[in-house]
Amino acid sequence: MKNFFVVNHPLVKRDLTILRDKNSNQEQFRNALRRVSLAMAIEISRDFSLIDFSIDTPLETTIGYKLHKEICLIPILRAGLSMLDGFLTVLPDASVGHIGIQRNETTLQPEDYYFKTPRNIGNMRPIILDPMLATGGSASAAVSFVKQKGAKDIILACVIAAPEGVKKLEEEHRDVKIFAAALDRQLNDKGYILPGLGDAGDRTFGTL
Ligand code: PRP
Ligand code: URA
Repeated sequence: MKNFFVVNHPLVKRDLTILRDKNSNQEQFRNALRRVSLAMAIEISRDFSLIDFSIDTPLETTIGYKLHKEICLIPILRAGLSMLDGFLTVLPDASVGHIGIQRNETTLQPEDYYFKTPRNIGNMRPIILDPMLATGGSASAAVSFVKQKGAKDIILACVIAAPEGVKKLEEEHRDVKIFAAALDRQLNDKGYILPGLGDAGDRTFGTL
C-alpha cells in the first residue's frame, strides 16, 4: 500500500473513539469529526511546497511564505461535508467543489447526482473529503470525475478506510494519495466497515 497513509496522533485516536462509540450523540459526533479533520488537514499538508516572498514586519523586511498551489476541497455529499469545516480552519482560502454521490444500498454501486468544481481545477491541488472508504466505489467515481476535469495530484482524505476500498483505489487510481485516521478490519455483508462507526451521513445529519 504505497500511497496509503494512516495519520497517527493521540488526539485523533481519542476522537476516533468518540466517533466509534454508538452512545455519542450528534453534537459529540460532529465535533469529533471536525477535530479529526483539522488534525488530518495539518498532517496531509506537511509536504506541500511553499513560495517565499518579501513582507514588512512593523520593524523590518523579512521573508514570508504562502502555499505554492491553490487548494480545492471537494466533499462527497453528504457525509464529506462533515469534514469541510475542520479542513477550512487550517486551509481558509481553499476553493470548495462538491460531488453528489450516493451508494445504492442494495447494489452498493455509487450513483452520482451533482458535480461542481472550479474551472481551473487543473492548476489546483484537489483534496477529496469523505469520512468512509468502504467498497471504494464512491471514492473511485469521485476521483474519475475530478480527473475528467483535468485535476492532477489528487489526495483522498477519509477518516476510516476498509482494506477493500484501499485495494480498489490502488487498482483504479494508483496515483492518488490516500490518508485515513484508521484502517479497519473488513466490510460486513451490507458493505459497512467493521468495527467502523456506522453510517457517517446519518450520524452527522440525524437521519438515522
Ligand atoms: C457513504 C460514505 C461514502 C460511501 C462509502 O455515503 O459517506 O460516500 O458511503 O461507501 P463505498 O466506499 O462503498 O462507496 P452514502 O452513500 O451513505 O451517502 P450519504 O453520505 O448521503 O449518507
Ligand atoms: N458508509 C458509511 O457511512 N459507513 C460505512 O461503514 C460504510 C459506508
